[in-house]
Amino acid sequence: MKKLKLFVTGCLLFCGLAIGQESGGMWIPTELNEAEMKQMGMRISASDIFNPNAPSINDAVAHFGGGCTSEVISPQGLLLTNHHCGFGQIQKHSSLENDYIKEWFWAKDHSEELTNPGLTATFIVDIQDVTDKILQGTTQEMEEAQRQAVVNDNIDIISANTVKEPYQDVFIRAFYKGNKYYLFITETYRDVRLVGAPPSAIGNFGMDTDNWSWPRHVGDFALFRIYADKNNKPAEYSEDNVPYQPKHFLPINASGIKEGDFTFVFGFPGTTNEYLPAVAIEQILEVTNPSRIGIRDVALKILMNKMKKDDATRIKYASKYARISNYHKKWTGESLGLRKSNAVQKKKDYEAEFTERLSQNPELKAQYGHLLGEFNELYANSNKFEKAENYFNEAIYGNSETFRVALLMSNLLKSYGSSNFSALKERYVNYLKGLYKNYDADLDQEVSLALIHLYKLDMPSEYQPAAGIQITEDTFRNSFITGKAEINGVSIIEDTEKAFENEISLLTALENDPLVQQISKIEEVYTEKVSIPRQAIQNQLNYLQRKYMKAQMEVFPDKLFFPDANSTLRVTYGKIDGYKPDDRPERYEPFTYLDEVMEKYIPGDYEFDLPAKLIELETKKDYGPYAVGKGKRAKMPVNFIASNHTTGGNSGSPVLDKDGNLIGINFDRVWEGTMSDLNYDPEICRNIMVDVRYILFIIDKFANANYLLDEMEIIR
Ligand code: ARG
Ligand code: GLU
Repeated sequence: MKKLKLFVTGCLLFCGLAIGQESGGMWIPTELNEAEMKQMGMRISASDIFNPNAPSINDAVAHFGGGCTSEVISPQGLLLTNHHCGFGQIQKHSSLENDYIKEWFWAKDHSEELTNPGLTATFIVDIQDVTDKILQGTTQEMEEAQRQAVVNDNIDIISANTVKEPYQDVFIRAFYKGNKYYLFITETYRDVRLVGAPPSAIGNFGMDTDNWSWPRHVGDFALFRIYADKNNKPAEYSEDNVPYQPKHFLPINASGIKEGDFTFVFGFPGTTNEYLPAVAIEQILEVTNPSRIGIRDVALKILMNKMKKDDATRIKYASKYARISNYHKKWTGESLGLRKSNAVQKKKDYEAEFTERLSQNPELKAQYGHLLGEFNELYANSNKFEKAENYFNEAIYGNSETFRVALLMSNLLKSYGSSNFSALKERYVNYLKGLYKNYDADLDQEVSLALIHLYKLDMPSEYQPAAGIQITEDTFRNSFITGKAEINGVSIIEDTEKAFENEISLLTALENDPLVQQISKIEEVYTEKVSIPRQAIQNQLNYLQRKYMKAQMEVFPDKLFFPDANSTLRVTYGKIDGYKPDDRPERYEPFTYLDEVMEKYIPGDYEFDLPAKLIELETKKDYGPYAVGKGKRAKMPVNFIASNHTTGGNSGSPVLDKDGNLIGINFDRVWEGTMSDLNYDPEICRNIMVDVRYILFIIDKFANANYLLDEMEIIR
């Protein structure tokens, strides 16, 4: 392995790369390297994985709520995903009386399954390369904005003319930075109900301390069910809907897996940027990550302080807190990994090789010789906008609910008199009704004031309103957004609909609200001085990146390039494999077991408490048929790692064995490897999965919900 790795790294720089797996990769399911997958151990064929004309594995894989992945595991539409993917829903169904965050929830029959308005499950039924049609009418010389306009028109025309069923949708996405375009036909189910979830002490055991790290001990799973109309087609929620009958569901392999086994992960990775120049990585390290990490530091401390003190706040903010802390920690790990792996220097070496090859080929040099120099210039110019952009996004939009609502209200005010107004108003009313259910005005005020303090301090003054920012406790007290002042004679929190009813007084309230006024001034300066000039640079960067992508593919013709993740369906494959971070004497093993969960157990702790029932099962080694080993030596597997190249969005993705059976679900990556979004390194990048045996054990032995197992096809 070590030898192969050396060869491959050498090859990456000097002779191109022919081994896809070693360089990671998230492949389009219609363009799989079947030969390599088989050589690594796969026994099924590429057409078993994706086939628009016959039932295949893709028929069991659904984009979950647009952000995660899920898979169908029974003929009755039972859907498996991560606990953290369903956490928003679990949280919404929770109250002090029914605290599904602390206790488990399992529907005992279909009638107890809980509805989730807005939650969707989307299947991809066909994928087509439409590059030629989309690029028709574009030329090399075109300005970027003009080219994009032609592309957008073509996208509209091709989408509108695609032959599909009435219950299907179409979308087209750019790949390889806009060098290729693919069309997707989808089916979106809109009635997805919660079936069961373990308590957070299992589903999110170790929480933030353990997040993005290995060894790990989390039962990060939840069960949902897709409902369809009487014809088994997508439908809005209705009592008359029936459990969905999938074209294919995943059999579960509970017979055991081991180090070295072939695995593949099928899902919807969100965003990667593997082909950036070195300067871009420098910007992320020096500007982007420090700005966003610094702002979230402040928000998180305030939130945690109150969540620990008060259960009602914990329930309201647990899901939001997890969202903010998740990427806070990821960016921290990413920066660390990039530094440790010398990512910038590696990119520079690669660029030196690129330049060297250009110098030997005048034709390529004429086309691409200018790229790296222009990148350097543009990134240098964009640094100051990058910091400001992150300050606005994180301090005003992302982490203060009050400021976010003020921004929306400012939008609404600006749209007054236009034809959008009514639609916008309706959308915001719906959004606000959800937001205010879990809003703690005092807590959010504390967070917001701290963030605005940072903003005033660190945002370059040229990007702040000339008259300064006047936001104090009084501003919050006198604003209808916090519910402390009235609008239309009511509190917006108690009756959002009524607050927006009378348009004349709504308009007056919007105009006179002190928070709307302040935030709207902040936004105006930001838009004019940051957002617009930054976008102009971004357009130029998009152009360069598209050319650079094409250039790399031509300059290194023997290297395999996968398209960056873009929230479309992908396959990544690898082997179950441990790893050795360079600051540790020994290697990490690829499996963890339940007895180690006990070692982490801290009674009453916020992150490391355990349910009594789980402790009892472990103490008695009452593992049912799911353990490895027998008698005293029996051990219950919990999580495992492999060399699959995954990213955010792959959460909940099925992990499949050589025969296409389910062996686990993806939920995370190891700390040192979170930089794989920018710089995949086969030596340390590992994805983390829940072992399917642990899922079955929790359903069966912990929750006594074995009637659910009867629906599944389990290979023992
Ligand atoms: N890091 C994983 C992901 O990006 C898990 C996040 C959920 N867990 C948590 N402690 N926030 O989604
Ligand atoms: N937890 C991530 C998600 O929600 C997956 C982990 C990763 O980013 O690799 O998609």
